[in-house]
Amino acid sequence: MRKIVALLAMLVLALALAGCGTEKSETAEKPSAPASAGSKVLVVYFSRADENTGVGYIEKGNTCILAEMIAEKTKADIFEIKPAKSYPKEYKPATELAKQEKENNARPEIVGQLPDVQKYDVIFLGYPIWWGDLPMAVYTFLEKENFSGKTIIPFCTHEGSGISGTEGYIAETTKAKVLDGLEMRGSVAQNSQDKAKEEVMEWLKKLGY
Ligand SMILES: Cc1cc2nc3c(=O)[nH]c(=O)nc-3n(C[C@H](O)[C@H](O)[C@H](O)COP(=O)(O)O)c2cc1C
Repeated sequence: MRKIVALLAMLVLALALAGCGTEKSETAEKPSAPASAGSKVLVVYFSRADENTGVGYIEKGNTCILAEMIAEKTKADIFEIKPAKSYPKEYKPATELAKQEKENNARPEIVGQLPDVQKYDVIFLGYPIWWGDLPMAVYTFLEKENFSGKTIIPFCTHEGSGISGTEGYIAETTKAKVLDGLEMRGSVAQNSQDKAKEEVMEWLKKLGY
């Protein structure tokens, strides 16, 4: 009788071990799917050219440069958030207007046919840091669309503030899943584009692109 119980116990143990083994090797062998697999990607950005801090007068905004790199690598559609009323070309008056808009929690009008966010799974959202926040026109865009069930990946350019609290503001506004963003000095994006590209590609690689 004892022999039978011992044999049964060994059999149960052997089956349990075999089960564990299968599960373990399945997990170990299954390659983790990249974040990009099968997902449709949109790059949306806001960027201002003309005079800016650290770069002087520029023809293409700092964030725009990163947006184009990201769209090219991820083969994404791209959309620029354009305010109906452009900002002054000079830096100081532009900062004053942006400050007023932030203080008034304004929603500046934006122009152009908005993209249908429902067609995408992942939205890279690019913007400069303005007064430690998103430019108010980015809120205008975010509030016009429905991001429920979407993943937003922020990227920003700044001149010292870093990404500030903007990932949290985006999450609050959209209720989307918001991943950790990329932050880069605008002067690096503008004046050291090889270095900027390397950083962007490394970041995209970590995200699975
Ligand atoms: C209106 C305005 C406000 C800004 N506020 C900040 C700020 O709070 N913190 C910061 O680090 N940089 C600030 N900057 C610098 C921009 O974030 C930086 O130059 C950025 O790269 C500009 O990107 P863009 O060329 O895509 O517009 C500000 C620039 C402007 C024009």
